[in-house]
Amino acid sequence: MQIEQLIAKMTLAEKIGQMSQFNGMDGEISEEFKEKIRKGLVGSVLNEVNLHKINEIQRIAVEESRLGIPLLIGRDVIHGFKTILPIPLGQAASFNPEIIKEGARMAAIEARSSGINWTFAPMIDITRDPRWGRIAECLGEDPFLTAVLGPAMVSGFQGDLGSKGNIAACAKHFAAYGAAEGGRDYNTVTVPENELRDVYLPPFKACVDNDVATFMSAFNEINGVPATGNEFLTRQILRDEWNYKGFVVSDYESVTQQVVHGHTPNNKAAAAQAVKAGVDMEMVSTSYADHIEELLSEGVITQQQIDDSVRAILNVKFRLGLFSNAQTDPSNFPEWVNDEHRAVAKNAALQSLVLLKNDKNILPLRSGLKDIAVIGPLADAPHDQLGTWVFDGDKKHSVTPLQAIKEQTSGKAVVHFAKGLENSRSKDTSGFSEALEAAKRSDIILLFLGEEAILSGESHCRADINLPGAQELLAAELAATGKPFVTVILAGRPLTIRNIVNTTDAVIYAWHPGTMAGPAISDILFGKEIPSGKLPVTFPTHVGQIPMYYAHKNTGKPATSKSWEKIDDIPADAAQLSIGNTSHYLDEGFEPLFPFGYGLSYTMFDYSNLKLVETRVKMDNPVQISVDVKNSGDYDAVEVAQLYVRDLYADRTRPVRELKGFRRVFIRKGETLNIQFELKSQDLAFHNRQMKKVTEPGQFQVWIGGNSNAELTAFFELE
Ligand code: GLC
Repeated sequence: MQIEQLIAKMTLAEKIGQMSQFNGMDGEISEEFKEKIRKGLVGSVLNEVNLHKINEIQRIAVEESRLGIPLLIGRDVIHGFKTILPIPLGQAASFNPEIIKEGARMAAIEARSSGINWTFAPMIDITRDPRWGRIAECLGEDPFLTAVLGPAMVSGFQGDLGSKGNIAACAKHFAAYGAAEGGRDYNTVTVPENELRDVYLPPFKACVDNDVATFMSAFNEINGVPATGNEFLTRQILRDEWNYKGFVVSDYESVTQQVVHGHTPNNKAAAAQAVKAGVDMEMVSTSYADHIEELLSEGVITQQQIDDSVRAILNVKFRLGLFSNAQTDPSNFPEWVNDEHRAVAKNAALQSLVLLKNDKNILPLRSGLKDIAVIGPLADAPHDQLGTWVFDGDKKHSVTPLQAIKEQTSGKAVVHFAKGLENSRSKDTSGFSEALEAAKRSDIILLFLGEEAILSGESHCRADINLPGAQELLAAELAATGKPFVTVILAGRPLTIRNIVNTTDAVIYAWHPGTMAGPAISDILFGKEIPSGKLPVTFPTHVGQIPMYYAHKNTGKPATSKSWEKIDDIPADAAQLSIGNTSHYLDEGFEPLFPFGYGLSYTMFDYSNLKLVETRVKMDNPVQISVDVKNSGDYDAVEVAQLYVRDLYADRTRPVRELKGFRRVFIRKGETLNIQFELKSQDLAFHNRQMKKVTEPGQFQVWIGGNSNAELTAFFELE
């Protein structure tokens, strides 16, 4: 009732104030801004992290304005605040919602202790294009995986919203931002509605079902209509179909960018379009403050639309407990980057590491090594290991791989360190001789390559996704020494690393692992921990293959290893044939370098005995599936068993495989675990040509295994 009473008292100017978010202030708070707050013209501030200033503007809002409405203080707490977790793409490699929730919990506590009460995360955009810089920030290419991990992050941030250390989360960017043409940020998105509903929207619906407090509208247009003025998205789908009660904030000036898109003639029309579309709060641009009063008097927008926006915003402030106390006392919170938080970050980093190759079981490193060469521009890069979207992290807290390896081997081995290259982009090979020197003196080479943090993230896209600079050259020269060697790659996206994989004995993909990159990588290298990560995104062999993803369609002429006509095998004067042609590239075939879900262990897992309780199942009965997984190697370890399904024929063609279940299971060496999965008919639904979400009767195929190329298979019929 309080909200309704408050709304009834509010002037139009005060209501518009709640719908307006302003950027933080550099230096002291200006008298002008204090006056704005006193007049109730500020609903929220972003990018202010000075606790003293936050407490001061909250005090002014509560004590010196007419109605005393507290402020939402927003910040991009994407993968940690002061203690930095792996980038979200790395966290997704854990396939572990619990670890993601734990990380977000820790981040929320650190952020809230700084007066921040709202984060612009989770970013749950599906993308199939590693050229896109923001792939680093998302949870991978798969709707099912993101629909499990995104809500887990929401739970971690929000907990029970009103209790200590919780912050409001924000499902972003609504919608289909990751489908930008060419993987170029902010670029045009054209997606059929059923594809939008089947691929890009499920993670957002899952967050609505998990009570996410806010949404953020995207920068991109969808099919010609900017997402920030798109009634189909934020009215029809979000409110009418999903009955969402939270509020939508625009992206940074995305309201007035509707003019730049060429969708509205001016900012006034942009404000009208966004309000009508249900974008409740305007981030930084001021078209609401400038034009809503006029738009209302002209009848272009309605009082109801304004009151609905204000109600949704006030509701989040109430749920956060801000009306009872908007002040933050840091003594109520633990120290930043304390040991417990470091342990959370290390655990997340450990579970994010993906072992891609381990020839001759060179890993884990055997004891008895006397001289270890640690080489490469990412071996001791405290800033870059943190990754993108680290507004408030500090490299001084980073423990690098070099530091951790030195600590791990102190008194047992000598570490010979050489950067080889100044940074990941460097083409200056003058450091190679020192690196080769270190290699020659050592029993093994540990090479740390990748991307600097700034080479991924917002608007930082790459048309070529090879290792930048002269890194491949460095690896080739080190390989020529004939020494056993391991490569660890720290990057914000999948890279086309075929040459590295071919020249190195073992490869660990570490993404950007955050503050505790070093201890996590070192524990895996030396076998104190066993790698369990699985790829949340496909690794193409070549940038020209993109888009390359596992849940693709079969086409009418799917390629096989036999049908791929390799460019070097084609004879001179070859006659063009119209038979046997299939969907592949002459030069890069049709398969990725590594498939979605792929990741090795130090042990082996064998799948057998795939069983269906029934092979003919009534539509609304569950499909019960079980499988045996045996740990047939030498280490107790964790495996992520994955269940894939294909609807063999349907009103619209279905992907050749779709992830419909996964289990992280710990299995002792030599033991076998029986794992059960249960599929409900709604798990198999898709949007047909009439835009109805349906599950059709018919033939289905299932696979269970350790990645999306799983071979163990069975069939069932839905009646
Ligand atoms: C940025 C991003 C968005 C972020 C916002 C505030 O441009 O697109 O994800 O939350 O602005 O920093």
